[in-house]
Amino acid sequence: MTETYETETYEFFSEARSEAVVNARMGADISPRLAQVMASLVNHLHAFAKDVELTPAEWGLAVDFLTRTGQMSDGNRQEFILLSDVLGLSMLVDAINHRRPSGATENTVLGPFHVAGAPHYPMGSNISLDGKGETCLFIGQVRDTDGSPIAGAQIDVWCDNADGFYDVQQPGIQPQWNNRGIFVTGPDGHYDFRGIRPVAYPIPDDGPVGQMLAALQRHPNRPAHMHFLVSAPGFETIVTHTFVAGDQWLSSDAVFGVKTSLIASIETGTDTAWRSQFDFVMTRKTA
Ligand code: BEZ
Ligand code: FE
Repeated sequence: MTETYETETYEFFSEARSEAVVNARMGADISPRLAQVMASLVNHLHAFAKDVELTPAEWGLAVDFLTRTGQMSDGNRQEFILLSDVLGLSMLVDAINHRRPSGATENTVLGPFHVAGAPHYPMGSNISLDGKGETCLFIGQVRDTDGSPIAGAQIDVWCDNADGFYDVQQPGIQPQWNNRGIFVTGPDGHYDFRGIRPVAYPIPDDGPVGQMLAALQRHPNRPAHMHFLVSAPGFETIVTHTFVAGDQWLSSDAVFGVKTSLIASIETGTDTAWRSQFDFVMTRKTA
């Protein structure tokens, strides 16, 4: 006796219709968003494999790469986010989700080195605790899109030290909270604090992402920047950096974080310090 299959109602896998066959397996009652995202993911993944005619060796290489990316990740090191960063995906997700009117301060990548709970300081304080680097005054105002100052805006800042490392990359070498601090604006929206003139540094490149960059003849460097996380009740939080004008890596940032509007001029101030002026323009939260 021969078994027969109901081929009218079931479509077996084929190269030509591979994505359609896979997507047809989804249940009818799953979340519409999950169905949309997964169908698109499968469509693009299959289109990619067909486009490049992916070989078993290349597929195996990718599986090994992703395995090592996972193995490299832990509570302190997130190699997958780094992968997303160097592929421009982090910036794309950020751009899609933070479209702002012209004149409002643009977002850029958060990066892996933000630490919640930095010390609160009065305006004018120096956040550099290791005595290294060239002093820089960071100064400006936080205001809304109508030009009114925002009082009570919290400005959380962080940057690397003069050797190009964040404090969390060098525990026991740098003082904890080196080059980090939180400032809150008064009624005039003004802020100013001292730190160091930021220096360029390479993103962590001792893992699979670094190997991928090397294979692509890409460098791992980020142009010098100061990170800012600016929040105020009723306003969209700004996650951004200011970049040091003239830095050699501005046009080839390893994580694509640079936007023209975020390049801040840096000048010699009245004393021996550098001076970097930048105003933040916040948009109101919509319901
Ligand atoms: C950073 O600017 O701290 C950063 C951003 C993305 C990847 C690595 C570092
Ligand atoms: Fe950074």
